[in-house]
This record gives sequence, C-alpha cells and structure tokens, in this order.
Amino acid sequence: MRLDRLLANSGIGTRSSVRSLIASGGVTVNGAVAKDPGMQVKETDSIALNGTEIGHRENLYFLFDKPDCVLTAMEDPRLPCVGNFIPDALRGKKLAPVGRLDYHTTGLLIITNDGELSHRLQSPKYHIAKRYHVTFDGPSWTAAEMEKVKEGITLTDMDMPVKTAPAELSAVDAHTAEITLFEGKTHEVRRIFAHFGKEVIALRRISLAGLEIDISPENTGAIRELTDAEIESLKSAVRL
Ligand code: URA
Repeated sequence: MRLDRLLANSGIGTRSSVRSLIASGGVTVNGAVAKDPGMQVKETDSIALNGTEIGHRENLYFLFDKPDCVLTAMEDPRLPCVGNFIPDALRGKKLAPVGRLDYHTTGLLIITNDGELSHRLQSPKYHIAKRYHVTFDGPSWTAAEMEKVKEGITLTDMDMPVKTAPAELSAVDAHTAEITLFEGKTHEVRRIFAHFGKEVIALRRISLAGLEIDISPENTGAIRELTDAEIESLKSAVRL
C-alpha cells in the first residue's frame, strides 16, 4: 500500500495533510526519513511519525446498494442482513454500516470501520444531505404541505413532540417525490409522509454527502470500495 494512504487510513489526517507531514521529514519508514508519499510499504514495516510508531489499522470504505428485505446489521440469526454481502476476506475488520436504512428501504449505504467518520456522518451537527426517491399512495403533495416540510414539522417520539429539521422536497409526479433530509430520525421519511396522509410504498436512498447511486434499483446488492477521491470528499464534508 502507498505510504500516504496507510497514514491517512491510520486516522492521522487527510491524504493531502499526510503528504505535508512526509514533505516536512516527520515520517520514517524502518528508521529512514521517507520522502516519497507514493512509496510502497508493507504491514511489517515500522512506520513512525515524529519518532512515535503508528499502528497499522487499515480503514476500509465501501458503498453498498442495499436491496429490499435486508436488515441493516452485520449479523442476524434469522433475516438476510448487510453482513451477508461483505466478502469473507473482510470479516474481522470491524466493518459496520453508517446509520440505518429500514428493512424495506433500498439504496445507498456506506460501510466502514472508520468510527470517527461514521459518527460524524450521522451527527446532525454536520448537516449531511441524504436524498431519497419516494413512491407513495395517497393524495399528491400540495404547495402548502411542501412548504411545511421545508420549514420542519412536529412529529411525536415516545409521546414527546419533536420538530424535524428543515428538509427539501420536490414532486416528481403525482405519486413520486424526492426528499432531502439533513438529519436521521427513525423512519423519518415514512413518518413525514404519513403525517400528510401519504403511505410510502417504495423508498430508495439515492445520495449521501454528494455520493450518488442510480435511481433504478437494478444494481441492488452491489458493493464496491470507495475511490480515494470519494473518501476525501466524505471526510471534508465532516471536517476531517
Ligand atoms: N427514512 C425512513 O423512513 N426510512 C429509512 O430507511 C430512511 C429514512
């Protein structure tokens, strides 16, 4: 693996900040100052930053297109779950889904073992945009209802009123809409629609923090590693 990638994966900083550390002469590989960020390093190499050995924790990042009828969990004794789609060679790497999609929601799910990134992507503090494509039964959205969703509405959580954060909503046709949330309350899209007498029939997450997948569900079940550029962009979205 490249030295800059290993350092970034170890949580030391972004690819560009670890390149500056390397350029400043602060990184050694087996005791010798490393100059080339693209230098190939192995698990067995001893890598130090300013004299302190760093561990070889390898952070992994995947984009999964979750199918219908799959639980957002790494293991389940009864039901098909996200863990069933992870290659065997990656078991034991402490991978976990970032947040949760309902059993019947399809679409974009990030899977990683980078705990800090996962935590920040889920925190309402960073206003991460999550866009959903929604097919519903019931009356189509009126302009007045859409305005209310955009401002935030009051739902009930455990008998307590909770206000939803302002969201973006646009009608695609009479029974299809796209909604973008900047937080992640439980079943939030379904509850917002139900609040206005609309029943969600199909829910698909098509975008998260600028990452996008196809609206068409024909690739559900596919999993791929994020590119370096995608990882950098996720990290910068949460100021990492
Ligand atoms: N909102 C929902 O209602 N369900 C999901 O799976 C995600 C967002």
